[in-house]
Amino acid sequence: MEISLEGKRAFVTAGGDGMGRTTAMSMDRLGAEVFTCDIDPTGLATLPDSITTWECDVTDSDALDAIFDEILPGGLDIMVNNAGVGGPTKMVEDVTNEEWAHCMGVCIDAQFYCARRVAPVFKAQQSGVLINMVSAAGILGFPGRSPYVAAKWAVAGFTETLAMELGPDNIRVNGIVPGNVNGARMEGVIAAHAEAEGLDPEVVRRMYAIGTSMQCYVDPQEISDLIMFLVSDYGRHISGQIIGVDGNTETLYPRA
Ligand SMILES: NC(=O)c1ccc[n+]([C@@H]2O[C@H](COP(=O)([O-])OP(=O)(O)OC[C@H]3O[C@@H](n4cnc5c(N)ncnc54)[C@H](O)[C@@H]3O)[C@@H](O)[C@H]2O)c1
Repeated sequence: MEISLEGKRAFVTAGGDGMGRTTAMSMDRLGAEVFTCDIDPTGLATLPDSITTWECDVTDSDALDAIFDEILPGGLDIMVNNAGVGGPTKMVEDVTNEEWAHCMGVCIDAQFYCARRVAPVFKAQQSGVLINMVSAAGILGFPGRSPYVAAKWAVAGFTETLAMELGPDNIRVNGIVPGNVNGARMEGVIAAHAEAEGLDPEVVRRMYAIGTSMQCYVDPQEISDLIMFLVSDYGRHISGQIIGVDGNTETLYPRA
């Protein structure tokens, strides 16, 4: 089995780092014309020249619209709604309006801003693939992370609904559950959890592993590899699925 994305045009949000970066780079290697944006220009500057980039905060729908105005006249085959932030680690009574709104803005509002622009183009083409980044926090509860959980459950519902709305037009919509992904973000989550509960970060690191059946962490590339399969012709009849690359997360909150 060989995956080729030759002739495909793909937009990945937040491609400067993490899974957005590995996904944009993988698509580029497989022959797609790739577009990405990020709030931080540092990572964008180190992407290959073949990838078109914009500095953009995905909570700014006008800024996203300006990007789509440049991309969409040439058509678009693949949209990866990757951007997401972890939000605060604190009990619900301590969450501020700003923290709640920011987490919702990046995790779910931005996915809406992108989906509503690509849907008409996908329908006119009678083809298209939409991938939404969910999280185990979008299928399980997670004490101390209520904004993120609320946003990611919204993403899961949005994904299921778009798969139903768009399926008759040969458009596939799937969600990805990345699990504990090695990298700076996971280190930040572990540090925040340890501080919030007065635990040793190494204990928290072990807790997250214990929460998965396979007791594991995964690499960003593993998530991107699944995305390559789903957006390729091999995934042509896979839609409405929320798929984990996570060693099967049983709980996000093993009691210490
Ligand atoms: N890392 C994990 O363990 C994990 C687990 C489950 C789900 N997820 C989800 O996967 C997706 C990618 O996560 P990641 O860990 O690769 O991300 P990350 O934290 O590594 O961030 C990737 C990029 O997002 C950019 N970004 C942040 N806010 C932005 C904004 N407002 N506008 C544009 N760009 C912005 C950052 O600058 C960074 O370059 C997210 O939706 C996240 O919620 C991650």
